[in-house]
Amino acid sequence: MAEFTLPKNSKITTGKHHAAKSGAGQKLRRFKIYRYDPDSEATPRTETYEVDLASCGPMILDALIKIKNEIDPTLTFRRSCREGICGSCAMNIDGTNTLACTKSIADVSGEVRIYPLPHMAVVKDLVPDMTTFYAQYASIKPWIRTQSSPPPDKERLQSPADRKLIDGLYECILCACCSTSCPSYWWNGDRYLGPAILLQAYRWIVDSRDEDTGARLDDLEDPFRLYRCHTIMNCTKTCPKGLNPAKAIAEIKKAMLARRAV
Ligand code: SF4
Ligand code: SF4
Ligand code: FES
Repeated sequence: MAEFTLPKNSKITTGKHHAAKSGAGQKLRRFKIYRYDPDSEATPRTETYEVDLASCGPMILDALIKIKNEIDPTLTFRRSCREGICGSCAMNIDGTNTLACTKSIADVSGEVRIYPLPHMAVVKDLVPDMTTFYAQYASIKPWIRTQSSPPPDKERLQSPADRKLIDGLYECILCACCSTSCPSYWWNGDRYLGPAILLQAYRWIVDSRDEDTGARLDDLEDPFRLYRCHTIMNCTKTCPKGLNPAKAIAEIKKAMLARRAV
């Protein structure tokens, strides 16, 4: 039987426990958070922070900001809008990929475990390296591509029915929660586009104003870029915006079959 030796630094160690100063009326909760600093030789570790929820906002992001402001300024994470719009605070909370700003602390029981999105290289602490993800997004050319000249005196219009076709697609905030929950993306993330990018690809395929559907489908006709989806459905289960990337992928596959039949 083959035996593998894992590199020494592949194990997450247990780091500091930051106990809260005792005080009256406290409502303490423990947050166990992944820490990694690429500039140090140290292996990744988890650190535990006791947070007084009596003086903290209701969301996981509120607790992270409180920890950074009041306990440990070295804790690193991304955030911007704090209302589920920018996608930058995506992380793995209590075992599920989601947005820290829309996940309520009350929805987690016991110790709150927080890790970066899985299977991405880590830049620092809770910040994943999104370089490949964004390059894949750019590869689908996410804008309206046309051959015809635009109408001289008005925009390219859509009927209400055509506009409806992009509902459930345009709302995607590119947080990558779905792609980083997808086993196919974990193992083939360099070649498989993953659910987020494929949902975005479908958003342009189905847009009535776009005139490059054939070329868009040609670009996806590849054993890896599209066909690594095995309908495991993790993507749809985890999407914090309630979208259905697995369905979008199925629609692309249907469009492929339909054009072959012509
Ligand atoms: S489909 Fe959902 S989970 Fe995936 S990137 Fe878009 S918003 Fe995030
Ligand atoms: S349905 Fe496809 S894209 Fe979604 S998690 Fe499963 S394999 Fe990945
Ligand atoms: S901070 Fe923008 S989605 Fe959470």
